[in-house]
Amino acid sequence: MEHEKISLPSNGIILGIESSCDETSAAILCGHELKSVVISSQLFHTSFGGVVPELASRAHIRSIIPIVEEAFSKTQLQAKDITAIAVTNAPGLMGALLVGLNFAKGLALSLDVPLIGVHHIEAHIFSALLEEEKPELPFLALVVSGGHTLLVLVEDIGKYSVIGKTLDDAAGEAFDKVGKMLGMGYPAGPIIDKTAKSGNPRFVKFPRSMMGEDNFNFSFSGIKTSVLYYLRDNPNILTEHLSDIAASFQQAVVDVLVEKTILAARKYNIRDIVCVGGVNANNLLREQFKSVCEMQKKNFFSPRPMLSTDNAAMIAMLGALKLDRGISSDLSLTAMARVSL
Ligand code: KG4
Ligand code: ZN
Repeated sequence: MEHEKISLPSNGIILGIESSCDETSAAILCGHELKSVVISSQLFHTSFGGVVPELASRAHIRSIIPIVEEAFSKTQLQAKDITAIAVTNAPGLMGALLVGLNFAKGLALSLDVPLIGVHHIEAHIFSALLEEEKPELPFLALVVSGGHTLLVLVEDIGKYSVIGKTLDDAAGEAFDKVGKMLGMGYPAGPIIDKTAKSGNPRFVKFPRSMMGEDNFNFSFSGIKTSVLYYLRDNPNILTEHLSDIAASFQQAVVDVLVEKTILAARKYNIRDIVCVGGVNANNLLREQFKSVCEMQKKNFFSPRPMLSTDNAAMIAMLGALKLDRGISSDLSLTAMARVSL
């Protein structure tokens, strides 16, 4: 199969803004070089065990201006220097999206620069271009976040085929829900990752759902339920075996994600594999992908953890790519809570 380098934005200064969930973030991209990225995570949701939408919106309102100012302060640039503003307008929490979108509209209007609406999941896919080593087209993207688990065949910017998705929980959601059962705070993904390091991944054999099936869909609710039943049938097990159970659960999820992605890459004869989204910050997932891709003669690309979880650098990158191809939005751009890729 022919491989084609993605033509990267070479000039233009793009301000990216992200506020779709519980991170307020701003970033500045010059050409395809990231000049600054600032991310403010709303840690107070931890005590509620999940994101409280109304509180998220209010926190975005408080932090959006200081975060954008901080992003500029890390560069030699000022607002008057920017070429365009890219902002997440979908999908996400409606109130949270509206904060970033309305701020971006106001700034675009006052600076008289184009506004570019960006789809959050599409931006995750191109977060891989923020790193030195870049995938070539066509590539296969595994998007694993708190709200989505998708396998996407990327033929070009704007040309995607979703070849697999979760039928129930997203991978990150499974980490968060199982973490809650294990008595961990929210988000539990990073805590399971850390706890599992000292555990035995073969301590319990949790199910690898939908493996061996003739499709690339995922299901994580079975693994979650079996952890629940295991804990019910083995009371007090967590006092001595918390890290073993965290490691066993993590191994089951990682096995499914890696194996299904590799099978898809082989079936569609794709050389470059990209893993993006919050769960890509998981150490085992990245290690296992790396070693399996090496064996299978595939190239593996994975943005660093800070650019895997929600951030505005990926929003600026997709905005720059779209602007280069003549795509921008007008001020009637609306926020949409749900819209597929
Ligand atoms: O992409 P993201 O920041 O937000 C969404 O768009 O959803 O992903 C957040 C998800 C959460 O479910 C979180 O638990 C998970 O990513 N996550 C991890 C790790 N870091 C974040 N899951 C496993 N291991 C990690 N190290
Ligand atoms: Zn995300």
